[in-house]
Amino acid sequence: MSVDTSNVVIAPSLLSADFGRVNEEIADVCKAGASWIHLDVMDGVFVPNITFGPNVMRCFKKPANAVFDAHLMITEPEKHVEAFVKAGADIISVHAEATAHLHYVLQKIKNCGAQAAVALNPATPLEVLDYVYADVEMILLMSVNPGWGGQALIPAITQKIRTLRRKIKERGLDIKIQVDGGLNLKTIRNVVEAGATHLVAGNAIFHEASGVQAYQARIDALLHEAQLGLVNQGQFV
Ligand code: DX5
Ligand code: ZN
Repeated sequence: MSVDTSNVVIAPSLLSADFGRVNEEIADVCKAGASWIHLDVMDGVFVPNITFGPNVMRCFKKPANAVFDAHLMITEPEKHVEAFVKAGADIISVHAEATAHLHYVLQKIKNCGAQAAVALNPATPLEVLDYVYADVEMILLMSVNPGWGGQALIPAITQKIRTLRRKIKERGLDIKIQVDGGLNLKTIRNVVEAGATHLVAGNAIFHEASGVQAYQARIDALLHEAQLGLVNQGQFV
């Protein structure tokens, strides 16, 4: 079976990588075929965990053609998006639950020169998006509660993806659907079938053995499963 996988993007999440040699890890996953790098920013307030801010992110070396996909799990992201664009973010996801000024922060991201995206926690209804569809390049649906890598995917995500895909189609818009959390060889096919195209994977890529060869094998295996989902994508909408 031959299916065009150019519509499917695997974004390795650095959260599960070895931060002691983060630039080597970034270079290795890119050599292994990743074009997007998912950067999880946590502030210890919106989520209990703390990771890194723009000053640290500025030290991450971006390989040519790589996309830095910054997922901001921070309160009042409007105060920080400019710094993250300056630090190299190409696309920024802000949580709808983390700001009282969603429309404003999306405009701010775009004015700073990056693509704008909204992220939703598992229990957040899609209706919060009703008045911002025209303002986003991507919608990130969390398939785990944000804060940690290595959690199990919450099954209700499948219906949420299907509904979102239908809403985007009804509006005639071209918005990427990204899913984040608990994706692995057992779960990825189902979310692609439901309509997701941008797939974050932390633990499924950065576990046990490291290095280009290991990462390439894991990315290829995930892409293969995603490809099986693409065949039926949207069929059950
Ligand atoms: C969780 C983060 C995810 C996380 C995914 O809060 O947003 O990006 O790294 O990790 P896995 O793929 O291990 O569930
Ligand atoms: Zn994330």
